[in-house]
Amino acid sequence: NNPPWPAFRGYHTYSFANATMGHRLPTILGKAIDDVIATLNDQSEEDKIIDLVQCIERMEYLKGELERSAKLRPVVDDGEADVALWNKEIAKYFLGKDFMNATWLFAEAYKYRRLRECFSVSKYWRNYDVFFRQKCDTFSRSTDAVFELSMRFVEPFKHAPNLTDNEQLEKERLMFMELTQICLWGNSTDLSLLINMTEEQIKSLQSTGGEALAETEKNILGNHMHRLWEIVKDLREKKGQPNAVFDDEEIAVSGAVNAKDHMKAPGGRVDFILDNAGFELYCDCVYADFLIQSGFASQVRFHGKRYPWFVSDVTKKDWEWLLNIMVYGQLFSKVSEEEKESLKRLGRRWKQYEKEGKWVYEQHPFWCTGYTYWDLHSEAPDLFLHLSRSDLVIFKGDLNHRKLTYDCAAPASTTFEDSIGPMASAAGAPRVCSMRTIKSDVVVGLGENGDEIAEKLNKDEEGWKISGKYAVVLVSEGRPG
Ligand code: F6P
Ligand code: MG
Repeated sequence: NNPPWPAFRGYHTYSFANATMGHRLPTILGKAIDDVIATLNDQSEEDKIIDLVQCIERMEYLKGELERSAKLRPVVDDGEADVALWNKEIAKYFLGKDFMNATWLFAEAYKYRRLRECFSVSKYWRNYDVFFRQKCDTFSRSTDAVFELSMRFVEPFKHAPNLTDNEQLEKERLMFMELTQICLWGNSTDLSLLINMTEEQIKSLQSTGGEALAETEKNILGNHMHRLWEIVKDLREKKGQPNAVFDDEEIAVSGAVNAKDHMKAPGGRVDFILDNAGFELYCDCVYADFLIQSGFASQVRFHGKRYPWFVSDVTKKDWEWLLNIMVYGQLFSKVSEEEKESLKRLGRRWKQYEKEGKWVYEQHPFWCTGYTYWDLHSEAPDLFLHLSRSDLVIFKGDLNHRKLTYDCAAPASTTFEDSIGPMASAAGAPRVCSMRTIKSDVVVGLGENGDEIAEKLNKDEEGWKISGKYAVVLVSEGRPG
């Protein structure tokens, strides 16, 4: 059940895989060690200090393993829910392989699992997140963009009076297209692209009626946004129908106070397979809020990671931090009372969605494994079944895209369906959308002329695959079981 194209590996010289395995990952680990040292210097209890020093020693050992490309060993049974999944994959495919000759995707994920292990075997520091400071910091530096959005979306979406049905629909379509782009570009490199874009472009969007949007849309090289609009519009037409995706088991999982109420609510179930915490998550929530308010979705389920992952991915703690900092925090000082209030109100509304079961946060162990999503139906059948009940599963970001597409050298003209294999073709495969700014080698779904487009960019724009300047929004219809 593998694609016909070779997977990227660290030993491919001059590749991004090579640069990541050889330089980026040791650097990330070095910075992580600095973070733990900062924490260490704040401690006063000897037991905790000794325990944390041992975590640092394990991290240093791991850094050494990376630098000399040591062989991959099984992960220690540290009580995590994913140990068996990891060791099964290692035993099957990676025994005797090292960081450089294992597939890049696996080796990179393995590094984050081993980083987890540095803490999970400790007594006091099991849940320590070496990236937490960084994640919070990035959000606190996104002031302009955060308040642009909160001021704009604090009032629930309403139509101006006297619009015809068609005019209303057109307004909603424009809003949907804009928010889809906000959600998409929230994933750009280190958030920098979006932050630039937000200041200049969100402002100009309001005044120019979308010229700036049209400009950024040109960079969406594979663009199924129009299909996405048709999909959400259809979902709303389920209005009043009991939501088929809602069964008792899911009501139990969500812990919703009045979950049954929105079985009759308009719209479908939309799932977000989240990527990054902080500003990207905030944009995802703005988008999800609109989907709920406009009746396209009656429920949104957010899927995060169980522990720190690829630096900035969302964990439960990040999720809670964001909502709480919005409502209670004092993170932003140089803003007006009105702006502060807008963020608070938005945060309160989102918390209310959670209470009502309209928003649900979950964290399946499979998301923190080395498996690609070609193996999702076989290695995590419960999760596959769960997703197959969704009306639309949105995968955010570069890593999710790599996992969907097996992170291999498929030609850019390959259709999205072909590139995601069983996630499109297995019985029960859900409808899937990948929203990703391009930050690594794999590029598919560019259409019939895709190979020429990619060839031209290769010639004209060095680094176009890692800059986050370009993006794809690709849809696969799935295969209802
Ligand atoms: O280290 C490379 C990588 O895995 C790329 O996929 C990307 O550059 C980054 O890390 C993660 O990006 P994202 O947060 O969008 O998944
Ligand atoms: Mg990420």
